[in-house]
Amino acid sequence: MRLGVNIDHIATIRQARRTFEPDPVKGAILAVEAGADQITLHLREDRRHIQDKDLFEIRKVITEVPVNLEMAPTEEMKNIALTVRPDSITLVPEKREEITTEGGLDVVQLQEYLQNYIKDFKEAGIRVVFFIDPIFAQIDASVEAGADAVELHTGEYANAKGIEVDKQLDRLKKSATYAYEKGLKVFAGHGLTYQNVKPVASILEIEELNIGHSIIANSVFWGIGEAVRRMKKLILESREGR
Ligand code: PXP
Repeated sequence: MRLGVNIDHIATIRQARRTFEPDPVKGAILAVEAGADQITLHLREDRRHIQDKDLFEIRKVITEVPVNLEMAPTEEMKNIALTVRPDSITLVPEKREEITTEGGLDVVQLQEYLQNYIKDFKEAGIRVVFFIDPIFAQIDASVEAGADAVELHTGEYANAKGIEVDKQLDRLKKSATYAYEKGLKVFAGHGLTYQNVKPVASILEIEELNIGHSIIANSVFWGIGEAVRRMKKLILESREGR
């Protein structure tokens, strides 16, 4: 299983002071040195954390592992992405007021739009991922629209309490199996932490996790290298059934 490290919140700290540090580019380099299998970043419409220049710089210096750009399916983002050429794009819904991405992309509603939207990316050889809620109808629509992969939104699992945790985990398992059998690559992410990652990482159909906030938050105490190594260790343990 691959670990994509989302570096947005390094930029969140920098933007709190509009200064030059901490530099997300440096964070990306250190994360890769520590074993990150991918660098993920989200260029938001309001540029609240990652700036355009961060994206261009990261594309330039990160060559050993893929760069995955999370973005809203807008014309502005398409122009930027086709210029930068990340290895993959992950399409996410975006609302200005939200603290973080709140739900998955509604592919059922947007199927025709997305099918057209992703054509240029497919021609450019850029992998297209849809970030969706673990719902069969969204998976079906993702297949129809031509996605290469889906990233299952783990936010409801992460927020669940008590018996709801197992229910949400079961939803993720069933959706992962369903998407895999439909021929999609299956990824997952959002709200995953050192405490809750293992049950998700043990779902064998899921081949990639994208984790940001928890890794960057704990980097304050441990350093980013150690934070990445500890997350990789948990993922490895869960894959080995430990
Ligand atoms: N995957 C997607 C599609 C996201 O939008 C985000 C948040 O930017 C993440 C993963 C990472 O979520 P978190 O920061 O909660 O780990």
